[in-house]
Amino acid sequence: MGSKVQTRSMMGAELMLALILLSWASSGSCSVSYDRKAVVIDGKRRILISGSIHYPRSTPEMWPDLIWKAKQGGLDVIQTYVFWNGHEPSPGKYYFEDRYDLVRFIKLVQQAGLYVHLRIGPYVCAEWNFGGFPVWLKYVPGIAFRTENKPFMDAMQGFTQKIVNMMKAERLFQTQGGPIILSQIENEFGPVEWEIGAPGKAYTKWAANMAVGLGTGVPWVMCKQDDAPDPVINTCNGYYCEDFKPNSNNKPKMWTEAWTGWYTEFGGAVPHRPAEDLAFSVARFIQNGGSFINYYMYHGGTNFGRTAGGPFIATSYDYDAPLDEFGLLREPKWSHLRDLHKAIKQSEWALVSADPAVQSLGSNQEAHVFKAGSGCAAFLANYDTKYSVRVNFGNGQYDLPPWSISILPDCRTAVYNTAKVGVPSSQIKMVPVGGFAWQSYIEETVSAFGEDTTTKDGLLEQISLTRDASDYLWYTTDITISPNEAFLRSGQYPVLTIMSAGHAMHVFVNGELAGSAYGSLENPKLSYNDKVKLRAGINKLSILSVAVGLPNVGLHFETWNTGVLGPVTLKGLNSGTWDMSKWKWAYKVGLKGEALSLQTLSGSSSVEWLEGSMLAQKQPLTWYKATFNAPPGRSPLALDMSSMGKGEIWINGQSIGRHWPAYTARGSCGGCSYAGTFNENKCRSNCGEASQRWYHIPRSWLKPTGNQLVIFEEWGGNPAQISLVQATRTS
Ligand code: GAL
Repeated sequence: MGSKVQTRSMMGAELMLALILLSWASSGSCSVSYDRKAVVIDGKRRILISGSIHYPRSTPEMWPDLIWKAKQGGLDVIQTYVFWNGHEPSPGKYYFEDRYDLVRFIKLVQQAGLYVHLRIGPYVCAEWNFGGFPVWLKYVPGIAFRTENKPFMDAMQGFTQKIVNMMKAERLFQTQGGPIILSQIENEFGPVEWEIGAPGKAYTKWAANMAVGLGTGVPWVMCKQDDAPDPVINTCNGYYCEDFKPNSNNKPKMWTEAWTGWYTEFGGAVPHRPAEDLAFSVARFIQNGGSFINYYMYHGGTNFGRTAGGPFIATSYDYDAPLDEFGLLREPKWSHLRDLHKAIKQSEWALVSADPAVQSLGSNQEAHVFKAGSGCAAFLANYDTKYSVRVNFGNGQYDLPPWSISILPDCRTAVYNTAKVGVPSSQIKMVPVGGFAWQSYIEETVSAFGEDTTTKDGLLEQISLTRDASDYLWYTTDITISPNEAFLRSGQYPVLTIMSAGHAMHVFVNGELAGSAYGSLENPKLSYNDKVKLRAGINKLSILSVAVGLPNVGLHFETWNTGVLGPVTLKGLNSGTWDMSKWKWAYKVGLKGEALSLQTLSGSSSVEWLEGSMLAQKQPLTWYKATFNAPPGRSPLALDMSSMGKGEIWINGQSIGRHWPAYTARGSCGGCSYAGTFNENKCRSNCGEASQRWYHIPRSWLKPTGNQLVIFEEWGGNPAQISLVQATRTS
């Protein structure tokens, strides 16, 4: 009897629970969907303002502050890619610690009360090494990236599933009470599909199905993918997206990458996008019915270690974003956008409820009016790039500066204009706080056929040997010169020509630097072409070929080559020209200093360092080491590397990235007007100067005392002029 009652009351409780769940579901609790107007969260259409912060481009210690500043800036969503090569450095060996602690990052966003847009990719582009793909993936037999190819699709599915399962286990999807409201599969595949045709189309369908099949409960997007299959939403990326239309009437108009600036390449000028134009583009998108906008980047950060893609992508990924590389507010951009978001949010109800009625206000002026019930919001636009215009709208008159939009959340009061900036601009100020007492160690120049080299016939592709474990590969061979060679008497030395597929090289003859050469992002190929002093007998030719980040974009970039692939020729001998390309070459991966881990405390004690008057200066292939204490305070730190050439920097064993201040920015920078269509060649700085002079040292990598700074310098520089600086912003 008693047990029956118990069962009955249990059933009652279960029923209650079911009813509660049902009523939850019908009231839209914990649900994300979309309709033609907007993403719908918990039954409510939303205008969502999002910003990209890529977790490995800052430190976990920086994350809370960045997220907080994003929230203060009026963001609802943080968007990030997932970086496969950071998470699976070798097949099946996963890493989710420190800067790669994805779960921690997402939970911090949740704690701040913001949503997450998780772009799983796993292809990410992003100026990230190999577009996010692990280099080992290239060596899976039969693989071809980003097309209908079984080995690739299996690997992609495996990683995507791994991430989705991880998010589910941590209850991070919105339907589970977590912050993730959207995901992304692939990245800008549309243009690739267009080039490769049928297998590309099949791959798109497969990718969409695969993603949707994972049952995350939240919508998926595909950016720059006009044929994204239902229910996946196709979205826009670019400097402007007002004319974008999704591929179905029941999908909202979303902008996944509103570029806040652009990336810097070594050898390129530093791009800047005026806040007025960025705000204008966003207002223009919203007035045309857009309802989701993501700033790419909101905080760009730093390409620590060897994570920069490219080749030739700089270590700084500052991006001219509202939060600068160091996490400081970039003004007026940050405040100007915050005010824009306020004005948009004041208009939200009308924006999501009504379609805009467009009204002409002049030859180049328009009103976009959203009227719903008693609500009304209007956007008044002046597209003219030169003239301010006074327009009549409703019962009022409004002054519109060139290339600007005013927002009237009640159709009467202009609370915001995209060209009227209320805050002064802030300049980054680098305050020197100390120099260093250096010690040096000269890297060994490797020559052919020693104990530690591998010998092969012909010239081999670089990454096939290094597997990207190092930037460096030695190509060495012996050149035997007979005493009968005429040049030995005439002094007309033969000309050595070395063709390389990329990205840089240093040429040594008999241990002496003969010269260096390097390519660019636009053309990574390079060649060396010069007379070389050879002597009778055996001459040692040693070429240090240097990779500067693997490509992250382009059709089948996994097949692009790096390294000295030839031809290598010697011209001006008795018998004419020698083609050395098929000779025996001896190879060595990496530097001796890398093998000894000179960047670490224990490794660095394994060699003898010189100091004082013995300190190496302006010498190629030199390691430098110094110890320093952390300056007091909390302001971000950086190294002023302007006196150095090219190489890599480590703090307490961790790489802060490649330095290359000697690569100065090409071109002339000219002026910058906010008005008119922006592109990355428009508002640039640093022309004729280092593309990147300052290199961020995360505070959290420092101990109060006894920090070890190690630099490997390829070109030769003057370390005495390196200084530690504190980054501040002043207006
Ligand atoms: C986009 C791409 C991003 C990033 C950007 C340029 O096309 O989706 O990942 O590479 O270009 O910064």
